[in-house]
Amino acid sequence: MCGIVGAVAERDVVPILMEGLRRLEYRGYDSAGLVTLGDDGELHRAREVGKVASLEEALGEQPIHGRLGIAHTRWATHGAPSERNAHPQFSGQDLALVHNGIIENHGPLRKALKEEDYRFLSETDTEVVAHRIHQHRLESQDLCSAVQTAVAELDGAYALAVMDRRDPDCIVTARQGCPVVIGIGIGEHFVASDIAALLPVTRRFIFLEEGDVAEIRRDQVRVFDAHGNAVQRKEIESQLSADAVERGEYRHYMLKEIHEQPNAVAETLEERLTRDRLLPAVFGPDAETLLPAVEGVHIIACGTSYHAGLIARYQIEQMAGIPCNVEIASEYRYREPVVPKNYLFVSISQSGETADTLAALRLAGKKPYLARLAICNVPESSLVRESDLVLMTRAGPEIGVASTKAFTTQLSALALLALALGKAGKRLDQAAEAAAVKELRALPAAIEDALGLNDEIEHLAEQLVHRHHALFLGRGAHYPVAMEGALKLKEISYIHAEAYAAGELKHGPLALVDEDMPIIAVAPNDALLEKIRSNLEEVRARGGSLIVFTDPETGFEADAHSQVITLPKAGGKLTAPALFTIPLQLLAYHVAVHKGTDVDKPRNLAKSVTVE
Ligand code: G6P
Repeated sequence: MCGIVGAVAERDVVPILMEGLRRLEYRGYDSAGLVTLGDDGELHRAREVGKVASLEEALGEQPIHGRLGIAHTRWATHGAPSERNAHPQFSGQDLALVHNGIIENHGPLRKALKEEDYRFLSETDTEVVAHRIHQHRLESQDLCSAVQTAVAELDGAYALAVMDRRDPDCIVTARQGCPVVIGIGIGEHFVASDIAALLPVTRRFIFLEEGDVAEIRRDQVRVFDAHGNAVQRKEIESQLSADAVERGEYRHYMLKEIHEQPNAVAETLEERLTRDRLLPAVFGPDAETLLPAVEGVHIIACGTSYHAGLIARYQIEQMAGIPCNVEIASEYRYREPVVPKNYLFVSISQSGETADTLAALRLAGKKPYLARLAICNVPESSLVRESDLVLMTRAGPEIGVASTKAFTTQLSALALLALALGKAGKRLDQAAEAAAVKELRALPAAIEDALGLNDEIEHLAEQLVHRHHALFLGRGAHYPVAMEGALKLKEISYIHAEAYAAGELKHGPLALVDEDMPIIAVAPNDALLEKIRSNLEEVRARGGSLIVFTDPETGFEADAHSQVITLPKAGGKLTAPALFTIPLQLLAYHVAVHKGTDVDKPRNLAKSVTVE
């Protein structure tokens, strides 16, 4: 959600903080701010409502400098986006704090602090933490131990970075439920919510674990676990370059990421398939004994990742012949899920930090699952660290809030899972395995071909710009593809879009159909083709305007009321959902561009949802 960046160095840290904020802006963009400790020994703060560019403008007019600083880009939870609610929050003129997450017991803490004469200038839960640390600091005289004492009193999820004017060489950071990474430099150190923020200054990172508190000085980093013991956390060297998160020649990150899909999918499949076989080591050494025992699968995820799970259900049931249920993490975590014997828990997440998905994983840890498998895009994430088995998607950093390449790489990874379960359950013979592998290997090139529809779709998008609603239809595994298409359109163009299983049309949504309601159908050349064709006739008979995405040779013809977009090549059962996703992504993208919305940072949304 919010993004945090901090630095302690010999040089002016403001350019580092501002570059970090620009790179973290995908996490939240209601307001932004930073604070430094100036050479005069005072805290200097700038905060602006709106995007990081507004803060940049303000700093252009009134520059701030310093060798110690923390900064924040906000996605509002407690208190509207306003300057006084923007971070950093202060306690008096001494202590500054930036925070990501939600403090659930801020109410009683606030009451107690007010009784001690602390004044509150914002509506945020964050200010409570700043005052509480300030209060403990009076007793301990040491910022790190004051933070340790204060965080022990907090309920909820947080990542914090704190600095105090009385300690000019120190940032203290803490994590519980929200990611924190420390960047290691030479004679300078950094902290951030995501390594993307720090790639221009270092590639060496330490990831904090749950409950950790760390003291970051110019020449030293000390980490303490939740019990206050000094611990060594592993340092890793990232292979990512600063350019991996640059937009390059593309107008938007989303467009760049749409075009990166052939490569991202190829990377995700690489070294996991031979010419005609799935390699046994794909899910790790334990999987070889574990997968044959699996009698059913529970898939849990949120948002776009949930749609990937819904598609995988059809593939797992068909290839492995075992039951597969898919559920939204925020629902699963508050049920009392009944887990039959020999079930595999699968979580899907781009970021690996989504609060509800992590909570579901932790709940699953208390249930008698055979194992918990994570399908994730961020190797250092909490989800990966806490799962028993891991299959990494290799999409690379995804910056656009609307997920694109993360989705198609998840579909590729899930196809590998369906294949592995089919093999392990002895339901797939060698010939079927070879056919599935051949189909998967052809996917990157087929996506490249599908991207060739760009101009046709850009033209089509003009017709949707002034619409207020759209209905997406699909059947079978293409029903969740339609759901993903509807989600993309509503997320970035703000057009109300819903998806229906085409068979449900006559049970309600048909009443909405008239000449103002575009119906967007996903109609591949599969066993359900004739079924969806009949559903679309029902629409046509009621004067609805149709946009049909289909395969070659399905016989759909354009006329005054319907337009047909034909994929260059048909996919098979494992790959068609990914292929049909491409034109739907392009459609949403071009409608949003025509409408002039902020494609990469749609209003009210954030990329990484680390609060409930
Ligand atoms: C947010 C993002 C979506 C994403 C969802 C789940 O809503 O905007 O793009 O699908 O979170 O995120 P995850 O990182 O768990 O896949």
